[in-house]
Amino acid sequence: MQRENFGNRFGVLVAMAGSAIGLGNLWRFPYMVGEYGGAAFIFVYIVFFFLLCLPILISEVIIGRKSQTNAFGAFGKLAPGSPWRWVGALMVLTPVIVVSYYSVIGGWSVEYFIKACMMDFSAGHASEAEFGNMFGEFITSVWTPIICHTAYLLLTALIVVAGVKSGIERFGKIMMPLLFVIVIVIAARSATLPGSREGLEWLFKPDFSKIDASVCAAALGQGFFSLSAGFGIMLTYASYISKKENIAASSAYTAVSDLIFAIIASCAIMPAVFAFGLDPEEGPGLVFETLPYIFSMMPLGGLIAVLFFMALIVAALTSSISLYEVGVAYLMEEKHMSRKKASVLIFVVAWALGILCSLSFGPLSGMKLFGNTLFNFFDKLSANWLMPLGALLIVIFVGWRMGRADVRDEFTNGGTLKANCRVFGVIYFLIRFVAPLAILVVFISNLVM
Ligand code: ALA
Repeated sequence: MQRENFGNRFGVLVAMAGSAIGLGNLWRFPYMVGEYGGAAFIFVYIVFFFLLCLPILISEVIIGRKSQTNAFGAFGKLAPGSPWRWVGALMVLTPVIVVSYYSVIGGWSVEYFIKACMMDFSAGHASEAEFGNMFGEFITSVWTPIICHTAYLLLTALIVVAGVKSGIERFGKIMMPLLFVIVIVIAARSATLPGSREGLEWLFKPDFSKIDASVCAAALGQGFFSLSAGFGIMLTYASYISKKENIAASSAYTAVSDLIFAIIASCAIMPAVFAFGLDPEEGPGLVFETLPYIFSMMPLGGLIAVLFFMALIVAALTSSISLYEVGVAYLMEEKHMSRKKASVLIFVVAWALGILCSLSFGPLSGMKLFGNTLFNFFDKLSANWLMPLGALLIVIFVGWRMGRADVRDEFTNGGTLKANCRVFGVIYFLIRFVAPLAILVVFISNLVM
């Protein structure tokens, strides 16, 4: 079977940046910044992002492009007959778990987009507590969240069925620029509200005394989640990158756009939170409880709400298609299924798991796994355990198993990219020594704290 490739450099970039930029930036990052101390968290995040997450992303891309196959097959191909294939299995399993609960939140975004279009968030519609109740009633109910989750997952599946070039790449090319424009418009509105200055200071003036092991662990986990690094996604996408592309540049552009987007998203949300005297430590409900109230208080808030929830859906979709594609690529290449059949199978698994996650806010809230509801368990399992573990194994594979000459060859396109040749030593050092050690230290200190 002929493998599909991304068409050109811009196509590679929008697909990779589209995968990276998602709910992780618009929903998770702002509330993590809120919970873990504002600018101090952002400072640690940026340091980890470039020192650890970027080398991990590059390692994953090296494995994917070199092997030109799916996440499971890649390890089998580069280390035949070794236990490394089980790492490949982990790379396929994690995105399937993530897409199941990711599409529940994707479904919430669909519901909130519809509410915004019905002008539910226009001027003076409800108090902050009422918006909180509205969200609580919605997520604890049975049918509406399940219907929204189904619709969202179906949309994801349809884009993936269309294929790499006509589905994933084309969708990203249209939607990513639109997404940037929408969020910049909202950030400009938010930053010019009276009283927004305090929020901006909170975002950019770090109080270093707030940095501790839990902040470091949270920043690292968020980095993996946001950059889609450590769980097979970028490995799969990189297998569709032609041998002519500069993978180091594509990875760096992806990381920079992901970071800039996360910062702009915080600038869209936090100044408004402060301007209206609300609590930045609201947690995961920030986007669905606090923001609607803010929109209802803002001039032109009804319109901004429509734009915001549209941006949330677009950002989520470009990421969930990448999560979805990992399993599809695996089934197509390892189990010889057609793209359509593979997509249906992933749909059934993610849909069923997603329904359980959705119900874990309501009727199944009493069902606990290690003290967590199913949704929280999946989120913690993937961000705190599977992603760091995957990332650790990826850098060990590239740094210690693959061989320096092979890694260099892939990183520099056989020595033809001069700039890459110059930075290779530094990147290889980060991959071989700094990243594995740092992941271990953060992991262990968070365990014992
Ligand atoms: N990287 C994706 C996100 O940030 C999973 O949403």
